[in-house]
Amino acid sequence: NANALWGGRFEAGPSAIMEEINASIGFDKRLYAQDIQGSKAHCAMLVKQNIIPAEDGEKIIEGLERILQEIESGKFTFSSALEDIHMNVESRLRELIGPAAGRLHTGRSRNDQVATDFKLWVRDVALNDLEAGLSGLQEALIGQAEKNIDTVMPGFTHLQAAQPVTFGHHMLAYVEMFGRDRSRVADCKVRMNENPLGSAALAGTPYPIDRHLTAATLGFDRPAANSLDAVSDRDFALEYLNTASITAMHLSRLAEEMVIWCSAQFKFIGMSDKFSTGSSIMPQKRNPDAAELIRSKIGRIVGCYNSLMLSMKGLPLAYSKDMQEDKEPVFFAHDHLGLCVAAMTGMVADMKVFADNMRKAAGAGYTTATDLADWLVSELGMPFRDAHHVVGATVKLAETKGCDLDQLPLEDLQKIEPKITDAVFKVLTVDASVAARKSFGGTSPERVREAVASAKERFLK
Ligand code: ARG
Repeated sequence: NANALWGGRFEAGPSAIMEEINASIGFDKRLYAQDIQGSKAHCAMLVKQNIIPAEDGEKIIEGLERILQEIESGKFTFSSALEDIHMNVESRLRELIGPAAGRLHTGRSRNDQVATDFKLWVRDVALNDLEAGLSGLQEALIGQAEKNIDTVMPGFTHLQAAQPVTFGHHMLAYVEMFGRDRSRVADCKVRMNENPLGSAALAGTPYPIDRHLTAATLGFDRPAANSLDAVSDRDFALEYLNTASITAMHLSRLAEEMVIWCSAQFKFIGMSDKFSTGSSIMPQKRNPDAAELIRSKIGRIVGCYNSLMLSMKGLPLAYSKDMQEDKEPVFFAHDHLGLCVAAMTGMVADMKVFADNMRKAAGAGYTTATDLADWLVSELGMPFRDAHHVVGATVKLAETKGCDLDQLPLEDLQKIEPKITDAVFKVLTVDASVAARKSFGGTSPERVREAVASAKERFLK
């Protein structure tokens, strides 16, 4: 019992092991809608070009529509003996409409068919879902930014207190990152939008097909220019996985910050009950499990990118079966990244911001030392390097006395630099520090208010 679709030159069917290693139906059934969409476009073109009779074309289209319904209502039986989605659909078509079904595959191969199906899926499902998810996440972040335009917190470098910043500014930093992710989505959509269909097995076809027509029907900008390239190109999937990896990296950084912020030692935020878990032994616990899983997921998503990149490495033109392994990494990345984006959006929208704790922490660790140096420069005309030295000595003194900079008596300051006056104290507060950072893109509430408006304009319109 050789394969019904290609069994002509075979005497025996495949071994059970061959069938198991060969079949992709277990995962590529997810391409059913795109497979049927591509087949309908191809069939309509074959009729228009007088390559197949119109009445067979009608039967084929009706049959394909019926198959779509069967699959969507769960009535379709997928068979791994039929290897993949393309042959499952075609074989069911033959059951439904008889020999006319045999005309559908004219001027086409599974090689251009699978490339087309998969491209449609990446474009219309994976990239669209990511775009929608990211804009929702940006909306949540901008919402928090707007509520925290003058919430002062410590800004860090090396995770050491550096200079005070505003929490709104911090939220908007992530809005920019996810904005770049969205622009990567848009970029790769433009580059990938060429139709492989009609490249046939690898060399094109002798039938007078109209590839411009099928390209237009399927929403592609144009037919892919080279048939060998078109059937063996998976760049679009790699670009999606690369974009997904960078997005996952951004998510992991925010997740890590949230894990730190909700610890008892920081207490900058409270994670909502909806995104926390308890401990089976320690009654006091509220664990940020969702954030930790988001932090971790990048590893598996980059793994998907690596996996497909290595499947493609060194493949001679044109199609090789290695390329069947393109789908699972993309499906995995799409499913898990979608969940991460959704969880992060909920966590950001629901988190409580403990502004008082942030403010207290903002002043700890001599975070206004740079402001003191800037004051020595602007008020006393000191070169910045000298001012840096004076402030270093001042911090050292404060450290030995166990107090903050603004708690040092003026006489102590004057022992280090006699020209210091008590006007210096007004620049040593955290509010003065953030308010002073008015340069474009800086953290002052004045700039952050504008930045919120700009982010809404650029990302939420
Ligand atoms: N299931 C195959 C895949 O996913 C379809 C293309 C098969 N083509 C071939 N010549 N065996 O890549």
